Amino acid sequence: MTDLRTIDECARRIFEDIRFPDEPAGLYDPLRYMIGIGGKRIRPRLCLTAYSLFKDRIGEEILEPAAALEVFHTFTLIHDDIMDRSPLRRGQETVWKKWNGDTAILSGDVMLIDAYMRISKTPQPSHSEVMSLFSHTAAEVCEGQQLDMEFESSDEVSMDQYNTMIGLKTAVLLACSAKIGALVAGAPAYACDALYRYGYELGMAFQVADDWLDAYGDKAVFGKPIGGDILNGKKSWLTIRALEKTQDKASFLETFSAPARSEEEKLSKIAAVKSLYDRLGVSEDAQAEVRRRSGLALEAVSGLSSGLEPLRQFAEALVGRVK
Ligand code: IPE
Ligand code: IPE
Ligand code: MG
Ligand code: MG
Ligand code: MG
Repeated sequence: MTDLRTIDECARRIFEDIRFPDEPAGLYDPLRYMIGIGGKRIRPRLCLTAYSLFKDRIGEEILEPAAALEVFHTFTLIHDDIMDRSPLRRGQETVWKKWNGDTAILSGDVMLIDAYMRISKTPQPSHSEVMSLFSHTAAEVCEGQQLDMEFESSDEVSMDQYNTMIGLKTAVLLACSAKIGALVAGAPAYACDALYRYGYELGMAFQVADDWLDAYGDKAVFGKPIGGDILNGKKSWLTIRALEKTQDKASFLETFSAPARSEEEKLSKIAAVKSLYDRLGVSEDAQAEVRRRSGLALEAVSGLSSGLEPLRQFAEALVGRVK
């Protein structure tokens, strides 16, 4: 079995060697930029980790599928930053901000196509199943992103609806990443399904942690603006939980929906909403939810006879993440 350090090193090498066409530079430079500034590479690392449970060494056949997952994810970020009007990603300017919105749309489009070219290199016998899982997942991510936007203008979002939304926009891609690793390694169906459920629960934990970091993180470490979700009226886990707990929903919504135009107004709105979160104790609740989901992830794979240690370490790192 390959250890997590070797897996991380392999993930690093995939993206060091990744190439996109030279011309037109205006189209492909944003792809080089986004892959170059890097991220945590969670999805390819998860894919390689799942693969390594069933293979003694990392074979060539998993490299393009692992790359495809990260390229697809990065495409979603380029478009997400347009939708969320976010100026900062991975500590650097977002594509729409550095270039412009039209470039972010088209470079995002070609990045999605690049992801498809890579995933389609998955060899038989898992080719067809991987292609169909990848396509199904990609459509689900769009569905989740649509719900995320629709929820901005609704005051009646329940925790169940929130969970459906983040399940689609975030968790299914982690689930898909773990399952693709297992499929390409030729794992038995029950193990592929257990790893899908593991990735799904981990993805749920991951998005709740992201919502928490959006309010309570350190901008310099997190690499994204703090308070963006509050300013966008996002129904984050913290908001939904606050709406469940508050005795005065109208007053919470008044603070949460107050317009904020100047920098000063924005900072004071973020502080006001966070002080309501603090009073209601939703920060602690969110941290407990991250741990609960991570526990469910491990339960999902508890039936697998071996390989639980890397999966446990992977989940642990995610619960304690600060970026
Ligand atoms: C950000 O994903 C989008 C979410 C699903 C929360 P990551 O936190 O994995 O972003 P990078 O790739 O590390 O920048
Ligand atoms: C992102 O959710 C999910 C996808 C990109 C599909 P967020 O909007 O919370 O992600 P960040 O916080 O911008 O990374
Ligand atoms: Mg978003
Ligand atoms: Mg966003
Ligand atoms: Mg976020």
